[in-house]
Amino acid sequence: MNSEARLISGAMVMLAFSAAALVVLPYVQVHKAAPTPGLKPYDDAQLRGREVYIANGCVYCHTQQPRPKGFAPDFDRGWGRATVAGDYAYDAPHLLGTMRTGPDLMNIGARQPSEQWHLGHLYQPRAYVPGSIMPSYPYLFELKDKAQEGDVVVQLPPSHAPKGQVVVALPDAVELVRYLQSLDRTGPAVATPAVPASRP
Ligand code: HEC
Repeated sequence: MNSEARLISGAMVMLAFSAAALVVLPYVQVHKAAPTPGLKPYDDAQLRGREVYIANGCVYCHTQQPRPKGFAPDFDRGWGRATVAGDYAYDAPHLLGTMRTGPDLMNIGARQPSEQWHLGHLYQPRAYVPGSIMPSYPYLFELKDKAQEGDVVVQLPPSHAPKGQVVVALPDAVELVRYLQSLDRTGPAVATPAVPASRP
């Protein structure tokens, strides 16, 4: 009995210690981080696009957290500087991600600002990147015989354009691209003062 009580209290101490180190301390350090100067809140279309990003599981293959130069060659890959807490001030929930099946997207809006490229790439990634393993998202588009007024027509490379039909982006695709275009944390970073010095 005695040893059971010791085991349980030992487990509780470990749990409290890890909760303090991994939840409470980081929260205290960054929850009041001011937005990075120049960072704008998402507008309504971008926020809806963010929902489409979440609903389609983009986060399972794409991170939004370029790492510091000492940890990984993310900067040299063109993914941008290491992010700081203020870069996520308007991100709820954050979409840091853990898997990098595809490139980091924290600065995709700066790297690739073209709406047409994004729409076409979502419709058929392999039209732009031969051999890409990214899924296509055809249900975000509609095939029509003829474009109507107000339609956002996607100009695909001739090799992948459907014969005799036009590809029209549905609102979800247009808003998703608005969100991708807003991903730009290339401005100067302001470190959160409470963050301890980087690891040795
Ligand atoms: C199964 C994994 C996977 C999923 C899910 C996925 N992607 Fe990708 N993505 C990739 C890979 C791999 C690449 C690199 C090849 C390419 O550009 O097609 C890529 C490339 C990209 C690029 C170009 C990045 C660059 O630096 O050129 C964008 C933008 C992008 N994905 C957006 C999205 C969005 C938005 C979604 C969700 C609708 C999504 N991806 C879902 C794997 C994925």
